Amino acid sequence: MSERIENKGEGCGAGCSCGAEAPGLLVSPMDRRKFLSLGAYAAAAAALAACAPVATNVTSPGSVSATVKVSDYSTLATVGGVAVTTVNGTPVAIVRTGATSFITLSRVCPHQGSTIGQISGGFRCPNHGATFNTTGGWVGGQRTSNMQSYATTYNAAAGTLTIG
Ligand code: FES
Repeated sequence: MSERIENKGEGCGAGCSCGAEAPGLLVSPMDRRKFLSLGAYAAAAAALAACAPVATNVTSPGSVSATVKVSDYSTLATVGGVAVTTVNGTPVAIVRTGATSFITLSRVCPHQGSTIGQISGGFRCPNHGATFNTTGGWVGGQRTSNMQSYATTYNAAAGTLTIG
């Protein structure tokens, strides 16, 4: 079955090959259903595109196993101090979070592997601008995951950190 929809005189004219009758337009219910379902698919596709996950964790830095002396890094003498260094070939940031607590963060960017640098109040990747707070949490710029952290154990008697 089909129904006629008025096109207010703007119907197909001579020479048109669409098959519609001028001045009205014949539209079958099946055509409308197809049209509406295609519209629904298009809307769903647009919604999915808007919510598409952003690539994260493209790079996974390797493990680190090392022992370092806290006194080798003058910036670690005070709480909140950060030592930007390399351990066993892996760029890391060691952060003194308390009198006897430290964390070690990989400076390999979780987005695409560039080396993250230190900025005021945290860290920033120079490649696409992902920024992280001083404990490695992602806070802005290129969306990605947090900086990877390594287990870090402080030996107060020896003044050393065992990382990894
Ligand atoms: S590599 Fe893209 S934000 Fe770091």
